[in-house]
Amino acid sequence: MTDQSRIEDLRTAISAEIAAATDLAALDQVRVAALGKKGSITMLLAGLGQMSPDDRKVMGPLLNGLKNSISAEIDARNTALRDAALAARLASEKVDVTLPLRKGPVARGRIHPISQVTDEITAIFSDMGFSIAEGPDIETDYYNFTALNFPEGHPARETHDTFFFPPDENGERRLLRTHTSPVQIHTMESQRPPIRTIIPGRVYRCDSDQTHTPMFHQLEGLVIDTSSHIGQLRWVLEQSLAAFFEVEHAEIRFRPHFFPFTEPSMEVDVRCDRSGEIVKFGEGSDWLEILGCGMVHPNILRMAGLDPDVYQGFAWGIGLDRLAMLKYGMNDLRAFFDADRRWLDHYGFRPLDLPTLFGGLSS
Ligand code: DAH
Repeated sequence: MTDQSRIEDLRTAISAEIAAATDLAALDQVRVAALGKKGSITMLLAGLGQMSPDDRKVMGPLLNGLKNSISAEIDARNTALRDAALAARLASEKVDVTLPLRKGPVARGRIHPISQVTDEITAIFSDMGFSIAEGPDIETDYYNFTALNFPEGHPARETHDTFFFPPDENGERRLLRTHTSPVQIHTMESQRPPIRTIIPGRVYRCDSDQTHTPMFHQLEGLVIDTSSHIGQLRWVLEQSLAAFFEVEHAEIRFRPHFFPFTEPSMEVDVRCDRSGEIVKFGEGSDWLEILGCGMVHPNILRMAGLDPDVYQGFAWGIGLDRLAMLKYGMNDLRAFFDADRRWLDHYGFRPLDLPTLFGGLSS
């Protein structure tokens, strides 16, 4: 066999291996076996040095030609394999840019009506110069009842259907607050008058039907100054109710009532029209009971360390869930706390539509 035909056989063998390499790793193995440090072609080229000058003259160009053509074949195969790999990836990762966008959390999420109503009321009272306070959900009997002038054993304590915790080592039973009024005391203990504060929060009573849930929400209002009076209370309630229901006027009427922590105590009704499907506020000949209020009882001021001969004030308490139901037309309170996505999609509010007085509360 001539040298030339041996070289041709080698070329044919390596070419076949190149053609058989189906991925870049296999192709690289072929390259190393032929052209690497100890590769078959490299070894042949290394042998040139030992040849006679005449042989070298013949074999040199043949071997270099072999090396160059195999190199070129490997490069071509390399390009083809890369192109094929890219084409396969493009095919598998194909994106249809005409598909509709998937909505992000800001577009999908909803603000619960209670949060919305709390934000609306907060915007209204912030505008009137009120601050916002919060207090603990777990209270002592002292703050929930005694400091609010509920005498020991007074029947008014029983009307609150209180959830009590088991007694601690001192025999004291903590409780889940039954109203936001205890935060009146915390507020008066921690800051000096003038006080103008609203207190939104969760409250708890052992009760459940269409309009009662064991946990619900109240908003307490407290104003303490040297000259606060019932006229101001009436103005604050009328203005804030009109702003909340987004009507021109919210006419209210006071009815005498009893709360241990206010004297005099009143219940407030707001004028409305209940003849149609939905309640309309500010017009009509019906009245709807909406909140409790009164002038802060001197005992409360004393209990909180304020001199009732110097300071006086008014307070009110209103149910936020009831307000939400009236304004947005839901009729079953229990659905508020079912965490049903469909209900929230329907009654919830868009997260970026923050209620403001200038931009509109519920628009
Ligand atoms: N705390 C009362 C309740 O839950 C509501 C209330 C009535 C609060 C009169 C007040 C008030 O601040 O003055 O039934």
